[in-house]
Amino acid sequence: MEFDRVIRERFSVRKFKDEEVSDELLTKILEAGRLAPTAKNIQPQKIYVVKSKSGLEKIDKASPCRYNAPVCLIVAADKSIAWSKGDDSTYEIDASIVATHMMLEATNVGVDNIWIKMFDREVLKKEFELDQNIEPVCLMPLGYKTDDCTPSPMHSSRKSLAETVEYR
Ligand SMILES: Cc1cc2nc3c(=O)[nH]c(=O)nc-3n(C[C@H](O)[C@H](O)[C@H](O)COP(=O)(O)O)c2cc1C
Repeated sequence: MEFDRVIRERFSVRKFKDEEVSDELLTKILEAGRLAPTAKNIQPQKIYVVKSKSGLEKIDKASPCRYNAPVCLIVAADKSIAWSKGDDSTYEIDASIVATHMMLEATNVGVDNIWIKMFDREVLKKEFELDQNIEPVCLMPLGYKTDDCTPSPMHSSRKSLAETVEYR
């Protein structure tokens, strides 16, 4: 798909069908994340691909927002290796860029998706036995939208450039 179409046609999907995503497409999506830039090229991201029944049940314990997707990525970062200075760290930025690459590649290959922040970090860490230094940044349910799924009204509500951009 042309890049312009990818960014215009992507929208958050909150109703997924019971249809698997092939390993081939999943690998393409993960590969797009692998190529993302990160601070100092440290690549502190850790991506957990959850698609087993037991894994998806663990996701559901931590978040109400899987929306029946057959696959859910946990996009995390290793805080102990990400660039940092004092209190400042880029772990969340790094993981977010990786997640953005994957979200756009998913759309590019026809796999619907959504970015989820609403999850209980501690429950997620406990359920998946994540090390203390591994910090989940977002969940990304992936799959195929149901036929009656349409973009939410928020999708078409964007501020104008004049409201968000200043030339100085
Ligand atoms: C950082 C971030 C966190 C989000 N968290 C959630 C969430 O927890 N639950 C949810 O249903 N949608 C979540 N979304 C989706 C947004 O609500 C959605 O992107 C926004 O309303 C614009 O709609 P669109 O993605 O369809 O264009 C999140 C999006 C971003 C970028």
